[in-house]
Amino acid sequence: MRKIVIAGNWKMYKTQAEALEFLLGFTTLVNEAPDEREIVLCGPFTALGTLSKNLHGSRIRIGAQNIHWEESGAYTGEISGPMLTEYSIRYVVVGHSERRQYFGETDETVNLRLKAAQRHGLTPILCVGETKEQRDAGETESLIMMQLEKDLVGVDQTQLVIAYEPIWAIGTGETCESSEANRVIGLIRSQLTHADVPIQYGGSVKPGNIDEIMAQPEIDGALVGGASLEPESFARIVNYVA
Ligand code: PGA
Repeated sequence: MRKIVIAGNWKMYKTQAEALEFLLGFTTLVNEAPDEREIVLCGPFTALGTLSKNLHGSRIRIGAQNIHWEESGAYTGEISGPMLTEYSIRYVVVGHSERRQYFGETDETVNLRLKAAQRHGLTPILCVGETKEQRDAGETESLIMMQLEKDLVGVDQTQLVIAYEPIWAIGTGETCESSEANRVIGLIRSQLTHADVPIQYGGSVKPGNIDEIMAQPEIDGALVGGASLEPESFARIVNYVA
């Protein structure tokens, strides 16, 4: 049975005070969500302490947005596994397109970060997906296959979540057709050695389209940016109608 994972990616949003305010509204709204839905909040590093303190004993899981492959060292601005695991976090986003695009993340560094996450007992959420230009040029399938091939070398697929995030759909309001997302996710699954890896869709997921997205047979959850910032909207996404 594949797990359903609904994760909010807060990106560079929310101070500690704002994170706390979010929790006050959010936790009660998702109380009744079916048990088999894993709810994850991926906050900025500075909010992880607040999240972990206030979610102790709750079903809501905490995630980070990056991890370095060394335990410690002269890597200004980076964060390591031992620093993250102090916060009782379970997940970490790796290879988000914003990291690849703006911070020079490559498939090689993505691979190192994935393995580091697993070494520290964290489940990485690996993001893959094509640009508009690559889609228009008919390169979507080959690009994603190449990303998977390079990113997953030596990675344990039993402790992994993948997010298919077409870059042109991120933060644009332009969602990928759910049937097309379903097709690409099926293709991703066909490349894996472990059949039960949860594969999410990400890219302008909103309260208004989540039911349709989750009705697709291959889609096991969502990675949500903008719509995860407000308690009501993210709660509606978590409480999608099956
Ligand atoms: P979005 O972001 O939901 O704001 O499009 C998704 C993501 O970047 O993970």
